[in-house]
Amino acid sequence: MKAVIFDLDGVIVSTDELQYRAWKHMADREGIPFNWEINNRLRGISRRDSLEIILENSSKTYDEQQKMELITFKNDYYVKLLDGLTQDNILPNVMELLKKLKSDGVKIAVGSGSKNAKKILDKTGLSNVFDAIVDGTEIKHSKPDPEVFLLAAAKLHEKPENCIVVEDAKAGIQAAKMANMIAVGVSDARNSELADYKVDDILEVVDIVRELS
Ligand code: BG6
Ligand code: MG
Repeated sequence: MKAVIFDLDGVIVSTDELQYRAWKHMADREGIPFNWEINNRLRGISRRDSLEIILENSSKTYDEQQKMELITFKNDYYVKLLDGLTQDNILPNVMELLKKLKSDGVKIAVGSGSKNAKKILDKTGLSNVFDAIVDGTEIKHSKPDPEVFLLAAAKLHEKPENCIVVEDAKAGIQAAKMANMIAVGVSDARNSELADYKVDDILEVVDIVRELS
């Protein structure tokens, strides 16, 4: 194993709560029921696909222009919430894991479907930590499509089969397997049947990489 590609939201940084608050802000304005169970179905997928899932619970029909307005309303609120991010929002043991991988000579990358990834990395002081970054502005197809991870491997000059993906979303685990990579599930992705490994503590990734090298 030569490289580890990390999802960002829910793996490196705890933005899940902010995503939830932003979608809830939009849903409350529209009178659409929204809760954490629905929010968990949005993990890893694009904002457009997320909106369609939220609208399953709406009695009103929205045309394309109205849908775009809802997405903009949500994203504007979300981006304001992101202003409050600091290094304290980096999830436990992540910095130690990145340091250990680097000292083992393993390349590290971010593979995120978020168009706000650069801002999140900037606010948390992680902009210059990774060997490669791929975000939602660079891809045509969002997870579970493997595009984001294949592009990350290409930027690292590594073959997909030499890469491990760490994900908190089932859609991300699917994407990793479609990319022919080893998939490690954390958080909600521990429920994924497709995950090759499921870990409680992200530091376990060090042992997985060593075991597979
Ligand atoms: C993923 C999140 O990382 O990015 C999803 O898990 C989100 O919940 C997606 O919908 C797109 O994010 P953004 O910031 O571009 O709306
Ligand atoms: Mg995620």
